[in-house]
Amino acid sequence: MSVPAFVEARRSIRAFLPEPVPRDVLDALVEAACLAPAPHHSRPWRFAIVDTPAAKDALARGMGARWRADLEGDGVGPARIDDLIDKSYTKIADAPALVLGCLTWDGLDRYPDERRQRAEWGMALLSLGAAVENLMLAAADRGLASCWIASPIFCPEEARDALALPREWLPHAMVIVGTPDPLYEGRQRPPVPLDTLRRNT
Ligand SMILES: Cc1cc2nc3c(=O)[nH]c(=O)nc-3n(C[C@H](O)[C@H](O)[C@H](O)COP(=O)(O)O)c2cc1C
Repeated sequence: MSVPAFVEARRSIRAFLPEPVPRDVLDALVEAACLAPAPHHSRPWRFAIVDTPAAKDALARGMGARWRADLEGDGVGPARIDDLIDKSYTKIADAPALVLGCLTWDGLDRYPDERRQRAEWGMALLSLGAAVENLMLAAADRGLASCWIASPIFCPEEARDALALPREWLPHAMVIVGTPDPLYEGRQRPPVPLDTLRRNT
C-alpha cells in the first residue's frame, strides 16, 4: 500500500512568482476547505481572503505590533526584533494571496464548565486543521504553492481587527498561496518512521 499521490504531492512552498491568484480560484480553495469534517455539522470556520496591498499591509502591521510587544517582553534585543518583524512583514506583503482560517462559536455547543468548553473549542480547532489541509491539497492539485503560517493563532484579535472582520471571527491559521517559484528548493521530506509513530494494539 502506498500513500496516495495527491497527498504526497502537497509540500510547503514559501516562494512565489509575482502573479495574482484569481478570486474564483481562491473561492474554489475555500470551498474545498469547507468540505472538511466538523463537530456536529457545525462548520465553525470562516475564511478571509487577503489579496490587496492595503489588506496585506494592515494584517502584517497589526500582527507585527503584537509580536513586537511579545518579543520585547521576552527580552529579545531590538536589532533582532526589527529583523524578525521585517521578515514577517515581507512574507505577508509579498505573498500573492493569503487565506485566513478563522474560528467562530457559531454552531458549537456551549457547556457550563470550563473543561468541556475547552474540549469543544479544541474540536473546532481540529476541524479547522482538517479544513486547512483540504485547502492546501486543493491548491496543490491546481499546481499552486501554499504554506501554512502559524502567526494568527498567537494574536487572533489583532489579526481580526487589522482586517475589520466581524467580532466573532477569530483568525487561527493563515495560508499563503501563489504560483510556485520554480527556483524554490524545499527541504527534503524525511521518511515517515512508522514504527515510532504508530503502535498496533
Ligand atoms: C500548524 C502549522 C503551523 C505552521 N507554521 C508555519 C510557519 O509559521 N512558517 C512556515 O514557514 N511554515 C509553517 N508550517 C509548515 C511546516 O513547517 C511544514 O508543514 C513542515 O515543515 C512539513 O513540510 P511539508 O508541509 O512540505 O510536508 C506550519 C505547519 C503547521 C501544520
